[in-house]
Amino acid sequence: MKVTIKDIDITGKRVLIRVDFNVPLKEGVVTDDTRIRAALPTITYALEQGASVILMSHLGRPKGKPADELKMDPVAKRLGELLKRTVKKMDDCVGDEVARSARELKPGEVMLLENLRFHAEETANDPAFAKQLAGLGEVYINDAFGAAHRAHASTEGVARYLPAGIGFLMEKEIRYLSRALEAPDRPFVVILGGAKVSDKIKVIENLLEKVDSMLIGGAMAYTFLKAQGEAIGDSLVEDDKLDLARELLTKAEARGVHFILPCDHVVARELTEGAQTSIVAPGIPDGWKGVDIGPKTVSEFKVYLEEAKTVLWNGPVGIFETRPFDKGTREIGLAVAELSGVTTIIGGGDSVSAVRQLGVTDKMSHVSTGGGASLEFLEGIPLPGIVAIPDLAGKKG
Ligand code: 3PG
Repeated sequence: MKVTIKDIDITGKRVLIRVDFNVPLKEGVVTDDTRIRAALPTITYALEQGASVILMSHLGRPKGKPADELKMDPVAKRLGELLKRTVKKMDDCVGDEVARSARELKPGEVMLLENLRFHAEETANDPAFAKQLAGLGEVYINDAFGAAHRAHASTEGVARYLPAGIGFLMEKEIRYLSRALEAPDRPFVVILGGAKVSDKIKVIENLLEKVDSMLIGGAMAYTFLKAQGEAIGDSLVEDDKLDLARELLTKAEARGVHFILPCDHVVARELTEGAQTSIVAPGIPDGWKGVDIGPKTVSEFKVYLEEAKTVLWNGPVGIFETRPFDKGTREIGLAVAELSGVTTIIGGGDSVSAVRQLGVTDKMSHVSTGGGASLEFLEGIPLPGIVAIPDLAGKKG
């Protein structure tokens, strides 16, 4: 167990909090504030404890130079609205002016630093830069789960120079994801989708050791089906991963994992919005591409889901962003949402967007705020941003 914000006396102190405010923007307005909302419990707690709060985040990938379109002003505006407080937005994240303003902060005041990645030293994890950031606060809290897989100055380096702990969001992410990996209630069913087997190899390998059933959708299913000798028509396939797919299938069998591939498919000739579709089983004829799992597959997946006690979902099972290829993903999303007495975890990226579009976010036990971070966590890789935080005395894990 890691030291958390609750384990540190922050009353009257300046608390430097790393958040992941890497949110989508359109014409200078935040279009999805999920990550900002997710950080509110930690920020509010710190303010209630009589601390002053200095927030820092990256936004996009400006490559070490200032970029007008990636300034934090829209984030400060949205945060102010959500907190119903003034957020003092700085023009930089280091330097004399920032240091002076930080020193002058009073309990209950909130400051947001400018985009950390306007300085190349951030991603380089430069020790002098980390020290400068650390100099702004008296306590460091990392609540940026979405950036925890990055060993950057603000996520890793700074923890060396201040008493450090994790925030409530980070704590919740770790609790749900590590429980699923270490001690899931069983049956433990994983739904894996997405375009490429290559993106998910390590996740599959790691999870095969832990799950009871693995339900495979998305284009990566066609690589597995081809490896088994099934016709896949003109579907997306990674021909250089066929041997690997066979190995994974053998591993699943040896471990007694139900490795369930689609038994029918929605197919189309064109991958365009509103394209004509047809349902085929078992193989896909030439000239057609698989775009979604078929209705029989949806029913079969539901049988496994209804028996599950823990469900983890990563990746859509069809081309969700293009109608009408979104049906399978929608049905699976709704089926997971309807489960009761089951721990349901949505593990990052596109499946999170799917759940949000379906309006069922609140029905899931946990919807991760991390894309790459949750993927690496599920691969079993220790995340530098978490490793950097000390364990609570006498407690590991
Ligand atoms: C994310 O959006 O996944 C995180 O904020 C990390 O962003 P990065 O991939 O640019 O480091």
